[in-house]
Amino acid sequence: MSMQGARFTPLARLLHWLMAAMILIMLFVGIGMVSSTTERYRYLVALHRPLGILILILAVVRLTNRVLNPPPPLPASLPKVQQMAATVSHLLLYALMFIMPLLGWAMLSAAPYPIDLFGTLELPAILSPDAALYAKLRALHTDFALLFYAVILVHLGAALTHSWIRRDGVFRSMAGGRRSPTP
Ligand code: HEM
Ligand code: HEM
Repeated sequence: MSMQGARFTPLARLLHWLMAAMILIMLFVGIGMVSSTTERYRYLVALHRPLGILILILAVVRLTNRVLNPPPPLPASLPKVQQMAATVSHLLLYALMFIMPLLGWAMLSAAPYPIDLFGTLELPAILSPDAALYAKLRALHTDFALLFYAVILVHLGAALTHSWIRRDGVFRSMAGGRRSPTP
């Protein structure tokens, strides 16, 4: 069966681009935060916490929408190894959308630091205080952030290869257009 014209649903596309922007902001805010020694640290961390939790909530909505509306299959012309690479990298991206916010929440719980969101809204601790565990989770938050950067770079490279070189409609299935016939 031809898959031409297949696209992600409007909600999937909206969430993809919205969350891509949010995640990139989070990665750069994170780096900016830990390299600030002034008041700026406080402002950035006050933005980092709620934005990270919002990513966690949207990740749940996105995964649910994906289960209910399976994405369009990749073109049959795409080599098997690239299809597998796409599956593995997408799995990793989904996993990181959950792991990063949960690690942030868990590490602040173990510290124990208050997990303030907006105004008086505060999240409950999900771990009991444990300084050694905090240190481990804090290091993991950095390690997984680096992995996130790396996978996003690979993903960006693949997306642009589909758009500029293969021109197989994969990019347009997420950008909003229709998949055009494979030449
Ligand atoms: C997609 C979600 C998230 C991403 C991509 C992300 C990314 C980052 C990055 C890149 C850093 C800097 C790491 C370093 O250079 O050592 C960082 C630090 C930090 N993150 Fe996140 N983060 C996320 C979610 C969260 C959440 C939900 C919380 C808390 C509720 C949180 C709390 C923190 C804190 C407190 C620090 C800095 C701690 C310090 O000053 O030592 N993060 N994050
Ligand atoms: C920055 C963070 C980003 C994240 C976390 C992310 C995550 C994802 C995930 C998880 C999928 C699989 C969708 C699914 O199967 O439900 C996907 C698909 C896609 N993404 Fe991204 N993305 C990001 C940025 C980008 C950027 C910057 C581009 C383009 C320049 C892009 C282009 C695409 C395209 C074309 C697809 C469709 C692939 C297919 O048909 O299988 N993404 N993205």
